[in-house]
Amino acid sequence: MHKRHFLSAMLSVGLATMSGMAQAQDNTFKVGLILPMSGPFASTGKQLESAARLYMAQHGDMVAGRKVVLVVKDDTGSPEVTKRIAQELVVNEKVHVLAGFGLTPLAMATAPVATQSKTPMVVMAAATSIVTEASPYIVRTSFTVPQVVVTLADWASKNNIKRVVSLVTDYAPGIDSEKYFNQRFIANGGVVVETLRVPLRSPDFAPFLQRVRDAKPDALFTFVPAGVGSALMKQFSERGLDKAGIRLIAEGSVTDDDIINSMGEVAVGVVSAHHYSAAHKSPLNKKFVDAFGKANGGARPNFMAVGAYDGMRVIYEAAKATKGQGGDALLNAMKGQVFESPRGQIYIDAQTRDVVQSIYIRRVERIGDQLWNQEIETVTDVKDIGKSR
Ligand code: PHB
Repeated sequence: MHKRHFLSAMLSVGLATMSGMAQAQDNTFKVGLILPMSGPFASTGKQLESAARLYMAQHGDMVAGRKVVLVVKDDTGSPEVTKRIAQELVVNEKVHVLAGFGLTPLAMATAPVATQSKTPMVVMAAATSIVTEASPYIVRTSFTVPQVVVTLADWASKNNIKRVVSLVTDYAPGIDSEKYFNQRFIANGGVVVETLRVPLRSPDFAPFLQRVRDAKPDALFTFVPAGVGSALMKQFSERGLDKAGIRLIAEGSVTDDDIINSMGEVAVGVVSAHHYSAAHKSPLNKKFVDAFGKANGGARPNFMAVGAYDGMRVIYEAAKATKGQGGDALLNAMKGQVFESPRGQIYIDAQTRDVVQSIYIRRVERIGDQLWNQEIETVTDVKDIGKSR
């Protein structure tokens, strides 16, 4: 047999033999946290790791009599690397849980590893609808893009926006954004004048924004992943789209709390929909934002951070319920959890293993010398509409 095939066959045998077996026999409870810590999405990895560590600092590192060990690995944003790390974590580290997944392709590449090894996989970031269907071992604590964009489409239709151009990053969550926003907006009687897609790697927004300017829509609807919004905003203003009276409405990743303060005046007034704003008014969120800032040199947590913080909550509570046992028992104890998150009340739907939550319409406002996504409307208990396709 060819050496590589032999190795991968051995790895599959290793994964299969591990199924259902008790994980680490020592007194630890291991969580493998796979994140983009370098490359263009490093800001996402940093937010996720900081929030997971904050949860542990606040809730202790002992659960069900076991010491929680967080094994953090850099996937560099590459699906192949993520999958290889996941295999190593399951086979060598014998982790109880795989967690993280900063981008949809990283979660999709790892799903077969979770299924084969019967390891619960907590998706703390990736937001394409299909993700939870890639493995029965996936539980999601982030959000789904359809949840968010249909809520925005309804708001747009009620707020005098009749013609839009959509501009999205050309990969799974961007395509979900385009599909579900446009579908709902058209069903509401709106017109989508043009649909544009920009590359994921090193996008140059200028030529696309010129086309938007020429099309003269009432609004530009846009999705770009966390960390990329400031480049888009800068070009939007440099191309004079704001001066031309074109409104910007966005999936909330665009006005990401982590980078919003670098966007400047052009961001003020931008309306977006999302499941979390650092400006969310609740005592729990205030405590979360303050503690995150204190532990991270004044940094503001974004929606990635809240996905990881809540993901750790789901893991801790499940581990308590199973007294540290992994596999199917741990997975089942994750399903159906209902709790208050810094974002508001949420639950993990036991059937879909997806998160059900409030979606907020927010407007960027300047308060003192800072920009915030101020929540102006709330739609409660929003499920992933993508599941009904
Ligand atoms: C995704 O790849 O699913 C993803 C990443 C970043 C976002 C939203 C979705 O801000």
